[in-house]
Amino acid sequence: MRTPLIAGNWKMNMNVRETESFMDDLNKETLPKDVEALICAPFINLPALVDKTENTAIKAGAQNVHFEDNGAYTGEVSVQMLSDLGLSYVITGHSERRELFFETDEDVNKKNHKILSADMVPITCVGETEEERNDGQAEAKVSQQVTAALAGLNSDQVIEVVIAYEPIWAIGTGQSASSDDANRMCEVIRTTLADLYDDETAEKVRILYGGSVKPATIEDLMSKTHIDGALVGGASLKVDDFVALLNGSSHD
Ligand code: PGA
Repeated sequence: MRTPLIAGNWKMNMNVRETESFMDDLNKETLPKDVEALICAPFINLPALVDKTENTAIKAGAQNVHFEDNGAYTGEVSVQMLSDLGLSYVITGHSERRELFFETDEDVNKKNHKILSADMVPITCVGETEEERNDGQAEAKVSQQVTAALAGLNSDQVIEVVIAYEPIWAIGTGQSASSDDANRMCEVIRTTLADLYDDETAEKVRILYGGSVKPATIEDLMSKTHIDGALVGGASLKVDDFVALLNGSSHD
């Protein structure tokens, strides 16, 4: 059985004080035990986030990392710096990083290798543009991105990786993919994994849907066979919504 994961991606929102206050409020809530909760905050908030998640079941993650160990990379942060802090997860290949900061499939692959070697878990985002979907290219695009992101990883490593299917046209637009379309694309990802590795490996990998996920839509998404959770932007910024997403993903 794959443990459901609700991953909040705060993007470039929230300062240190707001992070502390969000976590103080979240820590007062009773959260479902069968769902993993994760917050991915801006770098500067991570020490506060780690501090506030200590001795709780909530995990802390970063939104990006550099693939080199150290050196002359002004403005960048290494995997070692993140793992020393005690983080569990790092997002790689988010479409905003691919589109706005020119992150390539090769960068994503290098980052994934480095993150796994530091015993952290990459959440690798893949997804098609609206134009690619209209041209019937969505499945091929996503399959290609998955293949490139995982190049050189063995099956023991791949079962740790989380893949997030995030159609670019659905991110921050309020226009979510239907649960059936999202499930179909997550199935394409699982089939790609089975082709690259084997069925047993593919069944173990968690695949999330992301793109305008809201408390009102989570139960429907989570009822689908291939959707194991959600990567959530906007709705992860409010404690009530985040808690509702966790409760909506619970089978208890
Ligand atoms: P959204 O963002 O939930 O605000 O659409 C999702 C994401 O970019 O991960």
